[in-house]
Amino acid sequence: MPKRSRTVVCVVGARPNYMKAAPIVAALQDSVRLSPLLVHTGQHYDPDMNEKFFAELGMPAPDSNLDVGSGSHAVQTAEVMIRFEPVLDAAADPVVLVVGDVNSTIACALVAAKKGIPVVHVEAGLRSRDRAMPEEINRVLTDQLSDLLFTTERSAAANLAAEGIDAARVHFVGNVMIDTLIANLPRAIAPAATLAAAGLPAPAQFAVATLHRPSNVDDPAVLRRLLECLAEIGETLPVVLPLHPRTRARVDAAGLAPMLDGRRILALGPQGYLAMLGLMKNARLVLTDSGGIQEETTALGVPCLTLRDNTERPSTVEFGTNTLVGRDPGRILAAARESLATGGKAGRIPEFWDGNAARRIVAVLEDSF
Ligand code: UD1
Repeated sequence: MPKRSRTVVCVVGARPNYMKAAPIVAALQDSVRLSPLLVHTGQHYDPDMNEKFFAELGMPAPDSNLDVGSGSHAVQTAEVMIRFEPVLDAAADPVVLVVGDVNSTIACALVAAKKGIPVVHVEAGLRSRDRAMPEEINRVLTDQLSDLLFTTERSAAANLAAEGIDAARVHFVGNVMIDTLIANLPRAIAPAATLAAAGLPAPAQFAVATLHRPSNVDDPAVLRRLLECLAEIGETLPVVLPLHPRTRARVDAAGLAPMLDGRRILALGPQGYLAMLGLMKNARLVLTDSGGIQEETTALGVPCLTLRDNTERPSTVEFGTNTLVGRDPGRILAAARESLATGGKAGRIPEFWDGNAARRIVAVLEDSF
């Protein structure tokens, strides 16, 4: 039987989007009623932030790449909008599906909404209540523009209700990023192989850290304090630090590269998904400012200290292994010492983080469109 031709235009732009879109694209490929069309905005473009993930996640090559690259928020968002519109004009009876909270998410949602094309937001309703985060602005606006909103945790429904969004449009389906984690865990790359590939020793035990938020890396004094903290922890337990290109550039510009000494801090380039999974799974402790890693460590049952004052993912703190420790070195070090001494916070897996979120999403989409 030929497929009905309703096209779900799935947008990805930046590294954290790929793990979310992969299971949705796969489930749409299996749908008899809907077909995926994958658009990459090119917000992230380095092969290490990009092609590597597509290959590891078994994602098809994008049907269209908008090649927007880096720029200020205004330039990047505007470029995505300008280049996305003709893609939509060429699509047959499209629905636009966006994931997460990056600039590509809001840009494509806005283009579609103004053209009267239905917008679907996956990972809706998360709120840090911190408008200094560009992602918070992207989240609030994308949700306002969306016709169908899929949430990862129960807290999201109240956030959306408080912003006047009709509950009939909101579906609690669980976490697509955890679909990807569960599917790929058996293929995770052993940390020893990852470290050896970077010419680094493989310690028996280690912590993993990631830093990339502007609030943590753009001010050299803040970045130095955080690296000093990691070095201090590294006296007890080496800290593996895969560096986002933004962070690498800030470390170099601030003259902090000597702090990445290969003994206390084992710095790596950006890692692929399977290497990162192997590192996190085997870490005694993870320190991060990433949103996704708070969720992945909760799913893995690995203690996580989040180097921020707030989180848009409160279920990782309420049910999971996550603790918010902010950016104060004393507080971070005390929390790290306690975690290492006690084995860290135990947690449980939040509801519906069970590997079936994408299937639930596509079932709702098939009913709706
Ligand atoms: C973006 C997202 C953030 C997400 C992060 C994950 C927004 C507002 N932010 O932040 O929510 O957590 O992705 O990585 O959308 N760069 C490269 N190569 C690349 C991509 C970026 O070198 O492939 C460098 C460029 O110098 C660029 C900088 O990183 O200016 C920042 O990139 P950008 O896409 O603006 O934001 P991220 O910090 O990656």
